[in-house]
Formats: sequence, structure tokens, C-alpha cells
Amino acid sequence: MAHPPSPTASSTDGLPGVQRLDVVRSPGDEQAIVDELHSVVTGLRARLTWLKQGGIDAAPAPSPRPARPRPSAPSPPVGVGKLDPAAVPVRAAASGDPRASQNAPPREPEYDAGPRDTDDAAAIARAAVESASRMATRTPSAAPKPPVRKATGDAPAGSSRPSSEVVYPELQAVPSGTEGLRIIREFIGDCRRCNLCHGRNQIVFGDGNPTPWLAFVGEGPGADEDRTGLPFVGAAGELLSKMIKAMGEHALKLGFPELAAQLSREQVYIANVVKCRPPGNRVPEADEIAACGGFIRAQLTALSPRVIVALGRTPTQFLLANSAPLGRLRGQFGDWQGVPVMPTYHPAYLLRTPSAKAQVWDDLKLVILRLVEQLSASPPGFVPPSHERNP
Ligand code: URA
Repeated sequence: MAHPPSPTASSTDGLPGVQRLDVVRSPGDEQAIVDELHSVVTGLRARLTWLKQGGIDAAPAPSPRPARPRPSAPSPPVGVGKLDPAAVPVRAAASGDPRASQNAPPREPEYDAGPRDTDDAAAIARAAVESASRMATRTPSAAPKPPVRKATGDAPAGSSRPSSEVVYPELQAVPSGTEGLRIIREFIGDCRRCNLCHGRNQIVFGDGNPTPWLAFVGEGPGADEDRTGLPFVGAAGELLSKMIKAMGEHALKLGFPELAAQLSREQVYIANVVKCRPPGNRVPEADEIAACGGFIRAQLTALSPRVIVALGRTPTQFLLANSAPLGRLRGQFGDWQGVPVMPTYHPAYLLRTPSAKAQVWDDLKLVILRLVEQLSASPPGFVPPSHERNP
């Protein structure tokens, strides 16, 4: 490997913040410094490779950051989907909702260029130190495992810089169904992992059949959801209920009563990417999605639905790790961990743009067909496992 250029005046001229090296007195001195630098660079390269292999290829920016996500304090067990009001202190009352009933247009994400190269270098070095100290303090005991950041490819919606998602080791192997959801809800606890906790009244975990055929994923709670603790209960939620009902009726019309029975508000599962209401119903920030994203992933793993419908841009871009516009992604199945994902418009968008209902209905009919296909692939008399577990 070629040695780096020697640190003479000409190699440092013009680089802000880099001091000239005046210690070079003889060719022997110079060679020693070159060798020293070479070994430092080699060491740094090895460290960077090691970090990348560990999934860290981005590092936090140096400016003010929300508190580092950390495992929550143990919280009392609570019912899935409905938070024990006594277990969660009521925070600042929700103010007026400028996007009444979830009707306001989702804001376009604000992008910036991300940290500059010089910041990157410092940030990578900080990440290296933090990571090394985490490794050094790790013990094989049952102590809570520190969350780790995982590069997610494309930045999720609303990101202002390339983000890396927090991976919670405790949620990597949750059981399916009710027990898995209970464990996830308990792990979330009275969450303080991102700034959304400051404005919420309640965490909105999710609601519905713990072994559904179909799961809907929205963006985040609005005012009505924040007040009730349940997802999609406002005007957009009412429209979603009608959409699900129409799906059930269509399945019945097609001659699939067993599928129709799964397509009701009670039999599907509904949750959001972020569990706390973003102030003013703004689009969740990348940091917030990064802190919360592990929960919806774990929920979907526990739910193991046959099909997922992503409602709007945020869940679509998040689940598909694809920053293409929703208009381009909707109407065709993507994939999340082997589960077909149908991206479509958010019901709040439909309330403002009823002409888009026809496109959404087309998307939902494709979902029905996909479920029919799965049903038809089953042997006669087959009782789907979720049916067995959820009579
Ligand atoms: N919009 C969402 O994305 N989620 C809700 O729960 C309600 C409205």
C-alpha cells in the first residue's frame, strides 16, 4: 500500500485547522513520522471497517441531539393496545389541532445535505470511541442490552439527514401473537426515547387482532388518537373503517366468506410507525422514526400478517426502505421481510382528495386478490393458524 504523502508545508497549506508540522529536521525524522502516520491511518481504516461490519456506517451530527435512546425503566404490564391510564402520567394537554381530523396535507420532508465531510470524520471518530467503550463495558450478564444503530439504506420519510435506526436487541426474537405484543408494549414502557414524548398524552401502541391476516400501518397518532390511546379513531380512522368494511363486502361478493370474516376493523391490526403524536401532526422526524421504528418492526414480526397495507408516504418509505415518491410506489406490492406490502394513499389524503379514492380502491382490491391467492393455495379444509388461535 502506498504511504500517505509526508506532512510537509505544501501538504497542509490551505486546510483550515491543520497545523504545519515543524518537527521535521532530518530525512530520518521524516521517515519516522511517515511511518507513524501510516500506522495511525491503517489503524483508523481497520476501525472503520470493523464499525461498518457492525452496522455502523453513519454517525450522529455534533450539534444538539435528543437524549440517546436507552432501555426504558421497567413498567407495569399493560393490556395490548390500551394503555393503563394509571401507568402513564398525563402530560401537557393536547392543544388545538391545526390539522383537524388529520386532514392537513402531509408536509414534504425537508432535506439537507447532511453533515459535511469534516463533521463526518469527527462524528465517525466519536462513534468509534462510543462503540469501543460500549464493547469494553459489555458483560455476558442479563443486563439490558444497549440499543445499536443499524444503517437502513434509504433514509426514511421526513429525514433531514441520513439516519440509522435503533435496533433493540430485546425485540429481535419476540414470540408471535398476544404474548409478543405484550412484551413489546412492556418494553416500550413510558417511553422517553425521543422528543415526541414531551408533547404526547398517550402512547398509541396499536389495536386489533393479534394474529391478523391483514395489518395496516399508518404514520403516527393525531389528536383523537393521542386522546384515546387508539390508532385511527378520528375522521381518517372512520374512513379507514369504511375501507376495511368495503374490502370484506368485496371478498364476500367474490365468494370468499372466510376471507371476508378476516376483513373487519376488529379482525385486522392497525398501528403506526411512531407511537406518539408529532406536535401539530407534523411528519415525524428521522430521529423519531429511528427511535420508534424498531417497535413497529417487532409488532409486525409478532403479528405475522399475510399482507401489510402501508397508509401514506411515511410507512411506505419506512417499510420498503425506499425514498421514491408514494405516487410511484403505490399500487404495486413491495416486500417487508417476505410479507407483501401494498402502499396506498393515507385516508386523511382521501378526505381532502376524494378523487384519489378510486386509486386506493384499486390498490385494496389487489390486496384482496393476494389474500385470495393465499387462501386458494391452502389445502381444502385448511384452517389458517391465525383463525385457530383467534376463534
Ligand atoms: N393518522 C395516522 O397515520 N395514524 C393514526 O393513528 C391516525 C391518523
